[in-house]
Amino acid sequence: MNVSCIGLGKICFLVSLLLCAALVLFIPWSQRGLSPQHSTLPCNSTRCHHEFLELKLQQTDATLLAGHQTAGLIKRRESSSGQVKQTRGTRKENQYLFKEMLHLQDLFIAVKTTKKYHKSRLDLLMQTWISRAKEQTFIFTDWEDQELRKKAATQMVNTNCSSVHTRQALCCKMAVEYDKFVLSDKKWFCHLDDDNYLNLHALLKLLSAFSHSTDVYVGRPSLDHPVETVDRVKGDGMASLKFWFATGGAGFCISRGLALKMSPWASMGNFISTAEKVRLPDDCTIGYIIEGMLEVKMQHSNLFHSHLENLQRLPPESLLNQVTLSYGGTENKWNVVKVNGAFSLEQDPTRFKSVHCLLYPDTNWCPYHEVQSINKTSPSR
Ligand SMILES: *[C@@H]1O[C@H](CO)[C@@H](O)[C@H](O)[C@H]1NC(C)=O
Ligand SMILES: *[C@@H]1O[C@H](CO)[C@@H](O)[C@H](O)[C@H]1NC(C)=O
Repeated sequence: MNVSCIGLGKICFLVSLLLCAALVLFIPWSQRGLSPQHSTLPCNSTRCHHEFLELKLQQTDATLLAGHQTAGLIKRRESSSGQVKQTRGTRKENQYLFKEMLHLQDLFIAVKTTKKYHKSRLDLLMQTWISRAKEQTFIFTDWEDQELRKKAATQMVNTNCSSVHTRQALCCKMAVEYDKFVLSDKKWFCHLDDDNYLNLHALLKLLSAFSHSTDVYVGRPSLDHPVETVDRVKGDGMASLKFWFATGGAGFCISRGLALKMSPWASMGNFISTAEKVRLPDDCTIGYIIEGMLEVKMQHSNLFHSHLENLQRLPPESLLNQVTLSYGGTENKWNVVKVNGAFSLEQDPTRFKSVHCLLYPDTNWCPYHEVQSINKTSPSR
């Protein structure tokens, strides 16, 4: 054995050890330098908005963006100034960020109601969330109510549809909603029932994850399995068709890009004839056209809620992140969301006022100070 060779081996070993140590120490530093997202820089409103949005979308992307359609689509981040930043793909493979900066003016919100609910249901909505989106919200009803006309002016649409609660009458209203949206220049169509509370901020955040010019249909699946029906429109009446649909009672949204493609089955009275052919309710017919005819997958979201769910089960801490809420009707009046709000259950049986005051404490009828100390007070009943 040669002594100098052994000496050289030791040196080699020492050098490689030092190299490894240097690498181990260096890598985390270099990574930290490359990803400024979690630095402790003080946040101004623009920065915070982006980070908040990113967080929110990470929380919802699992359910919301399960479809293949948007996978890989939202890997870029667009800042409010229109710049596009490439984000690092290493943190998480499917990291969904927001796609499009949206404003309230980009929405067309349709609220479906009927003569008998103008007072009992609509007044509450006008007092709460509609007051924050007056220009965007259209009320589709079946009666020329002078009092409502005074309050809502041209935002009220008399559909001239029948006021009976039948499939035909409901489809008639949906047809008018669709046509009015197409004639507008809005980016998104959202349909709601008159027992829904709409959280406008949460809705804008949700829709920001998509581009309005692509095909997007988002809502809560009405069942835990797709509907199966005989293909009466496209096929020979023998083949069956499976499709999902968003329950109308929880609200749903459709991008302009997709709405325009629906035109052969939905515009100018075609919606009514499509619904007649398939003999399905209005919301179900929407799903039939989108999933069945256009072969566009619905985006399932658990942020929409109808009175058919157990609303008491919604975790109070996530309440203000939900897009829509609802309440049980006369048949189930205890089915309301749990919120420690500014109003007691007697004062606010639907809980919508309490939710509204948490979202907009500056509202003139909200007891501001009570809202401020919300965390200290015991649940009000
Ligand atoms: C907010 O912070 C970002 C990054 O730190 C910066 O580019 C931007 O100019 C700031 N905006 C305002 C309004 O201060
Ligand atoms: C309903 O009827 C009135 C009166 O005929 C008409 O002015 C209005 O445009 C109709 N509404 C729709 C949606 O067609």
